[in-house]
Amino acid sequence: VTPLVIDTDTAADDCFALLVGLLDPRADLQAITIVAGNIDFTQQAHNAFLTMEKAGCAGEVPVHLGASTPLVRRWKSASEVHGDGVGGQRRNRADKPSEEHATDALIRTATEHEGSLKIVAIGPLTNIALAVRKDPDFASRVAELVVMGGSINGRGNVTPAAEYNMYVDPEAADIVFRAGFPCLKVVSWDPLSINYAAFDQTRIAGVEALGTELSDFFVKANAKTFDFNVQAGLTGSIHCDSLAALIAVDPGVVLEEKHYRMHVELFGEHTRGTTVFDWKAPLSEANVIAVERIDTDKFYSYIKTLLATPVGT
Ligand code: BDR
Ligand code: CA
Repeated sequence: VTPLVIDTDTAADDCFALLVGLLDPRADLQAITIVAGNIDFTQQAHNAFLTMEKAGCAGEVPVHLGASTPLVRRWKSASEVHGDGVGGQRRNRADKPSEEHATDALIRTATEHEGSLKIVAIGPLTNIALAVRKDPDFASRVAELVVMGGSINGRGNVTPAAEYNMYVDPEAADIVFRAGFPCLKVVSWDPLSINYAAFDQTRIAGVEALGTELSDFFVKANAKTFDFNVQAGLTGSIHCDSLAALIAVDPGVVLEEKHYRMHVELFGEHTRGTTVFDWKAPLSEANVIAVERIDTDKFYSYIKTLLATPVGT
């Protein structure tokens, strides 16, 4: 069983990465840490509590609040993509987050599970960067860090050149990619080059047909990002965050990965946050393992199985 922390800007899509941590028997979710990202910071924490309630795990995993702004840049919302709550689904009860700051929870958990903890970072990397700065041994204690971010072929989403998580806090990303994590896997934005099929109408219909509480939660959450992505010319909503979480518990879903020296642009007028995957760098200088191809059918059937899980009401 893999001890796991998921660092997230919980909006309409990260919730399903949380479900992997909460419901997959191979995962032992130690903590959920919240970072400034997609939508209103407090709402992100509420969305994490809502997801736990939907999974029948209310109160089982502590939620720690982290950085409510990026390190340097001004926060940029993506509420136009994610809508309110989890695709409009809100909870009225506001649970209490832990008193312990996310950065301290990350450092403590990495120490308690030295050499076995896996961290799945699916928002801007502000909390991870703060942990690196606060504890110089933090990175070396983490067995694996899986980051959802960047784009191998340079196609961004929040700007033509940059993927959202890298764009919002490029300085944090730069700190993390230079920190010397022994195993840093990157699930990049490129729906094209990773060729994991988007959740198009057919796949969403397949989820809807499950008729469970969790499938209903997914379909409602997905509706918002689906429309936004289709208008942006994609075939559906791209669930890269739950893919990142699955990779942490089942690396076998990845069919092809490559070592790169990865850089994040900090100063470009048009290219802030864009990621450069230097394929020319010698293996000795590589700092990431980028996912290049996955078993898309396995990913889709995993999500359906996860959403078919009967949960106590
Ligand atoms: C990233 O931003 C959000 O849309 C998703 O949660 C994902 O983490 C993709 O750019
Ligand atoms: Ca996210």
